[in-house]
Amino acid sequence: MPAFRVLTLNEVIIQKQSAFPYAKGELSRLLSHIGLAAKIVNKQVNKAGLVNILGEAHHVNIQGEAQQKLDVYADEVFIKALKASGIVCGIASEENDEIVIFDDDLSLDGSYVVCIDPLDGSSNIDVNVSIGTIFSVFRRLSPKGQKATIEDFLQPGTKQIAAGYVIYGSSTMLVYTTGLGTTGFTLEPSIGEFCLSHPYMVTPKSGKIYSINEGNYIRFPQGVKSYLKYCQEEDKETSRPYTSRYIGSLVADFHRNLLKGGIYIYPKTASNPNGKLRLLYECNPIAFLAEQAGGLANDGYGNRIMEIQPTSIHQRVSFFTGSKNMVITAENFMKEMGD
Ligand code: AHG
Ligand code: MN
Ligand code: MN
Repeated sequence: MPAFRVLTLNEVIIQKQSAFPYAKGELSRLLSHIGLAAKIVNKQVNKAGLVNILGEAHHVNIQGEAQQKLDVYADEVFIKALKASGIVCGIASEENDEIVIFDDDLSLDGSYVVCIDPLDGSSNIDVNVSIGTIFSVFRRLSPKGQKATIEDFLQPGTKQIAAGYVIYGSSTMLVYTTGLGTTGFTLEPSIGEFCLSHPYMVTPKSGKIYSINEGNYIRFPQGVKSYLKYCQEEDKETSRPYTSRYIGSLVADFHRNLLKGGIYIYPKTASNPNGKLRLLYECNPIAFLAEQAGGLANDGYGNRIMEIQPTSIHQRVSFFTGSKNMVITAENFMKEMGD
């Protein structure tokens, strides 16, 4: 028997649901369905390297099952799990051009909509590098009993009632917030439970890591170029030069910086004039988690990500997030040097 008491995801969300008396346990149910879907996707992620042995994507494998691309598979698993929760009336997903509306009787009465990036960092699947799932939960605006509408999804991030991510890495973790701090759970594979491992995640005010795809340097705004030069300069007092770390999976890059202290930047570039990352299912949920851990998430021009009013579900935005002092310094460079 372990010498300490292990708390599982379900136990913690039930404990915490007293903070949401109006939710009558609904939010807990939703989060535990996300946890269940994450475990199913995790199982498949662990087998990703076997695809070439068992059968190529879109081909039939030796069990006679059609192989799917992992991001399409993850999308289906999360949609099914959220539909089964009976309290979600619709989904906006990176994998679907339009919103997915659940119109069965139970779901029409659901109070929530979910925005989701089912598989983040998909270019890393084939090379055994960490990938993730990112989600964001809103209370619907349209009346219960009717079909969800696009307006239910086009709410600013400040209206999120929960957000989180799953990272499928050397360990699988689920990190979430309901606005009462950022909490992390690690999957114990032998018992198949997410166990509380990071009760109150607080990101350092300043860090030593900067994360950006520097291959795009030539296309960066002048402010970003100058900030990068600052990161690379020698200065003992501020522990510079900083370290450069970039995985290419937002979830993994953010998770490392959250724990160690650092800044993640995906600016707008000449080729992506609105940035690359998506406001609804990448930046808003990460911003909520960052702020709840004491960090910041802005667009590089002094605007708080969570206050941006979305106008379309796949909208992109430039993104500066991480340790508070680092985001402030980077934005000061942006202000001084401009685009
Ligand atoms: P997705 O796999 O969901 O399309 O997201 C990829 C995103 C994000 O995870 C990552 O930080 C970024 O794209 C990497 O982009 P670059 O390859 O342009 O650096
Ligand atoms: Mn993504
Ligand atoms: Mn994706």
